Parts: sequence; structure tokens; C-alpha cells
Amino acid sequence: MAQFKPLVFSGMQPTHTLHIGNYLGAILNWIRMQQTHDCIYCVVDLHAITQAPSVWGGPTQLRRAIREVTAAYIACGVDPKKSVIFNQSQVPEHAELAWVFNCVARLGWLNRMTQFKEKAGKDRENASIGLYDYPVLMAADILVYRATHVPVGEDQKQHLELARDIAKKFNLDFASDIAANGHGDAYFPEPEPMIQGPATRVMSLRDGTKKMSKSDPSDLSRINLTDDADTIAQKIRRAKTDPEPLPSEAKGLEGRAEAENLVGIFAALADRSPESVLAQYGGGQFSTFKQDLADVAVTKLAPIASEMRRLMDDQSYVDGVLRDGAQRARAIASGVMGDVKDIVGLLRS
Ligand code: TYM
Repeated sequence: MAQFKPLVFSGMQPTHTLHIGNYLGAILNWIRMQQTHDCIYCVVDLHAITQAPSVWGGPTQLRRAIREVTAAYIACGVDPKKSVIFNQSQVPEHAELAWVFNCVARLGWLNRMTQFKEKAGKDRENASIGLYDYPVLMAADILVYRATHVPVGEDQKQHLELARDIAKKFNLDFASDIAANGHGDAYFPEPEPMIQGPATRVMSLRDGTKKMSKSDPSDLSRINLTDDADTIAQKIRRAKTDPEPLPSEAKGLEGRAEAENLVGIFAALADRSPESVLAQYGGGQFSTFKQDLADVAVTKLAPIASEMRRLMDDQSYVDGVLRDGAQRARAIASGVMGDVKDIVGLLRS
């Protein structure tokens, strides 16, 4: 089996402001992986426009959100000197490879994608082709770098499975051409999802059965990375709980979605295990736990919010990071796209 150089790729959509689900489910792992791997982190603006402009706010808001997500990556600790940070539309090879993958992926595979069903809602006939094709572009994002590891939250698992299926089918369909071009028995790796930590699926603060989401109409349902200390404390105070005291062991959280969620958030923010959090707070009232959770959250998140504000006032720096990142990303992506053209039989430009 072919060996691939380990490379990390991940991305976020610039729709609305990032929240602690994005931070705890994905970015914390991005920062960890940056210590041990080469990493590429993308602002996936082409994915953002798969929904109606009213969802992402139109062009002025999109430009702002691309810069704000970039600022969030840096403020959370992604180092632009070490890792590559860029926005998807500045590297045209993503869309180019997505087209080739459109011809590899099967309709039946895409019909199974649950996120499309959720986002399209009842009026599926009226969803954009882009929304339907979203997971194919996502596979191209990853594979245009031949990335091997993809740190994401739990909700992206199915999309990653599709990316693996596309890689596998491309390798099979073109097996002899891959070998003839000197790439051995496989051109694309099957990228591995890295879904790690105590908060891979952060739930709404208002309803423990719903995922915390940028699109939830209630701002009280999430903690945004731009929230100030008072807002964070207020949202945690008002977070839904149940009348029972916290249990001392993890099995006591079964069937208590809101309590489980808050314990997971505490553990992830404080870099502790849920068990150690429960050992400390088990048997106690939610009010004490919530007060400490608010303190932990403010300590961790307030410096991120203030660094984001500073970066948003320095647009030329942020744009420079994206330009430099796009150049570095393109140096890899254009090589891969050239190989793909040779393998498939398209002429190189
Ligand atoms: P997006 O922008 O919806 O989410 C970005 C990342 O945040 C994670 N996440 C969560 N994790 C835990 N709890 C939550 N409530 C929560 N909400 C969001 C997501 O799992 C994701 O890791 N399709 C991707 C963007 C993308 C991408 C890619 C990712 C496009 N191309 C290539 C990896 C590789 C998405 O919807 O992100």
C-alpha cells in the first residue's frame, strides 16, 4: 500500500461568528496537531455560498466574515508562520478538483448525506446544487493537498467517509494510469477523521438535544468567540439544567443531556477529563458549578475575543496572512492538480 506523508487539513465556513462548538470540537485539536504535524487551515468561503445570501449576509458581510474567521484562527493560537492559513476561493484548484470528483462520486452516495437533508429542510427541490455537492467540494479541499488527517467535530464524520470513498474510487478507477504515472498503487490517501476530546459535539445551551449551531435563532443557545465576559457569564447562568444535583460519575449523566453538555464544555475548556470535573462537583448544586464554569470560560475566551478585535482593526495584516497562505497552499495544490490531469488524461495548461 502506498505511503503518504502525514499532513493535516481542516476548515470552517465564514457564516456568522464562530462559537465554542467550533473552538472545542475542532480548533483546540488544530492547535494541538500544529505541534506535531504540517497543517493547512482553510476558511471555506465557497462552502459558505452554498446557502442563500440571506443566510450568510451578502457580499459585505461575507468579506468581513472571511477576515473574522481568519482572525479567530490566529487569536485561538494557529500560528500563520508555521501552519498555512488561507481562504478557499483564492486557490482555484479546490473547485477544479471538485469537478473531477463530481465525475467520480455517485448520486446514491450524496443522497445519503444527512447534513444536506437537515440544511435543505422540507423544500429540497429549491436547495442549490452547491449545497447538494458540498461534500464533494469538501473531499477536494482535503485531497488537493493529499492530506491524511482531518481534525473536525462529530458532525463531519459522514462527510469524511464520503471523502474516503471518493479517494478509494479514484484510486481504483484510474489504478493503471496511477501506476503508469509513477505513483504506485494509490494516488490519494484515505483521509482519517480526528474527532477527539471531551467536546466533539457541543450542544445548545437552551436544549441539550440540539447541536450548538451558528444558525440557531437564539443567541442564548451558544457562546460566541466574540462574546464579552458579562455575556458569557449570563449565558452560562441561563443555560438549561435539570433539578437534580450533578452526579459524581460519568454514568450518572445518562439521559441528562444538558448536564452532560456543560460538564463536557467545562472539561474541554479546563483541559481536564469529565471524570475529574464530576469528582469535584458531584453531589453539589448547579449554581456553584456554573459560577466556576463561567470563570473558566471567561479566563479562556476573553483573551481570544480581545485578540480578535485587535486583528480585525489590522485588515492589511489579516489580508497578508491570507495572501501568503494562498501562495503556499497553491504551490502544493497546483502540483496535485497537474498529476490528476496526467492520470485522467486531461492536458496540463
Ligand atoms: P463548520 O463551519 O460547520 O464547522 C467547523 C468545525 O466546527 C465543528 N463544529 C462543532 N464541533 C463540536 N460541536 C459543535 N456544536 C460544532 N459545530 C461545529 C465542525 O465539526 C467543524 O469541524 N464542512 C465543514 C467545513 C469544511 C471542512 C472541509 C472541514 C469544508 N471543507 C475540509 C474539514 C475538511 C463544516 O461544516 O464546518
